[in-house]
Amino acid sequence: MASNHKNNHHHIKALEQSLSARFGWQTNAHWRDGLLAAVKKKSEKLRFDETAYCRMAISSTGELEALAEMVTNGETRFFREPEQFEALRETVIPELFALRAKEKKLDVWSAACSTGEEVYSLAIVLSESLPEGEHWKMKLLATDLRASAIVRASRGSFPSSSVKVLGRSLRNRHFIRSEANGSYDVAMDLKKMISFRRANLYDPKFWDTRHQFDLILCNNLLVYFHALAVKQTVDRLADSLRPGGLLMVMSSEASYVHHRHLKLDSSLAGSFFRKA
Ligand SMILES: C[S@@+](CC[C@H](N)C(=O)[O-])C[C@H]1O[C@@H](n2cnc3c(N)ncnc32)[C@H](O)[C@@H]1O
Repeated sequence: MASNHKNNHHHIKALEQSLSARFGWQTNAHWRDGLLAAVKKKSEKLRFDETAYCRMAISSTGELEALAEMVTNGETRFFREPEQFEALRETVIPELFALRAKEKKLDVWSAACSTGEEVYSLAIVLSESLPEGEHWKMKLLATDLRASAIVRASRGSFPSSSVKVLGRSLRNRHFIRSEANGSYDVAMDLKKMISFRRANLYDPKFWDTRHQFDLILCNNLLVYFHALAVKQTVDRLADSLRPGGLLMVMSSEASYVHHRHLKLDSSLAGSFFRKA
């Protein structure tokens, strides 16, 4: 029994390392508890002994992705850090409209969008800030590791409790209440602005496209990454910004961003880094 437990511990560690190597995650005791519970659930379901399950999962991309669905924190909400969105509305977006006035085109990316609340909040601010009578090509990309999150995000259907924070007028302008179940569905003109895509940001293949953005939102992702993943991701995000473009992270994540071309704009609330 004791040796079986020890053995199992060894396999949990190996599984943890595989997840970390594939997804860039830094592990800790709290996260490990979640992994242990997921392993227990999965091995019971598949009628595997836990050690055998861990061994199988390590060699299966599909199983590692299935575990990622179970152990990831996908917490999010509309206008999550209000001062960031205030800064976007008051300063950042008007500046970007001025910067790109010639092309009338903005490219924006929500890099770990979870179930979509963040990118829809941004789409609301963009559409509300659009200069009167002007037609802009606004393209929003929203990516997340988890397929289930991307499916929910692209559906764009939210319970009344989560859209409450928007207030009645924004909610009525940008959502349609479903008669069937009382949920609020994002209006088509907002939906059409956004492309959702599944992406592992720690996978170098994802970064091959070299698309350039005016604004990147990367809230609550770096905090889950180990040091190498943080460094690589910050470098790649910086490379993906146009000159003058901005990277936004949570205030609590500002200390993760070090790059010779990114400078914190301390005049803005929230943490915005401008590319030189
Ligand atoms: C806490 S949520 C943040 C959601 C949103 N940005 C916010 O701040 O409200 C973190 C998200 O990061 C995603 N994530 C974790 N590791 C990732 C990776 N390697 N590549 C892409 N997304 C990842 C998770 O699936 C999860 O949806």
